[in-house]
Amino acid sequence: MTTTSSSPDADLIEVSLVALAGREADMRALLFDRFFARYPARRDLFLHVSATSVRMTDETLQWMYGLAGDKKWVWAQVCELVFNHRNYDQLHAAEYAAFIDLAIGALRDTIGGWDDATEAAWRRQADALNALVDRAMREWTDAPLAYP
Ligand code: HEM
Repeated sequence: MTTTSSSPDADLIEVSLVALAGREADMRALLFDRFFARYPARRDLFLHVSATSVRMTDETLQWMYGLAGDKKWVWAQVCELVFNHRNYDQLHAAEYAAFIDLAIGALRDTIGGWDDATEAAWRRQADALNALVDRAMREWTDAPLAYP
């Protein structure tokens, strides 16, 4: 199996992830405050937001980094996550898209010094991730398993 190493988007994304070091908790607080402001009814689904927000945020960012490098493992993880999240409620593609969008915004506002190329790199990979979430929802809905 051949693997790809890097790409201009992956390089830009990596620089912003490195810049976040030490301020992850601030970024997560901003992200979840904004997410709950947009979807207040979702707040009560979170039993331990300070714990679960770590993986929710990290995986979102890591998937976009993976997609920027054309990593094939991202699809299987997205697929499983979308299926697994039916345990919380019927979540909609628009909520995932909002979370992804707010994650990028919270990262930008936490680290500052963000140029147009970095913004474009994240936005391209957000589009790619949203497309995988949509595809996972479609495929699970068509599958002979109970979804959602
Ligand atoms: C790409 C987007 C998302 C990713 C990668 C993601 C990832 C995760 C992960 C890994 C967990 C488990 C955390 C742990 O046990 O440590 C989790 C929990 C959870 N997620 Fe997501 N998630 C995403 C989007 C969403 C959205 C849009 C909602 C909508 C409300 C949501 C609701 C929840 C809830 C309610 C929990 C359990 C929280 C708790 O028990 O405190 N997630 N998520």
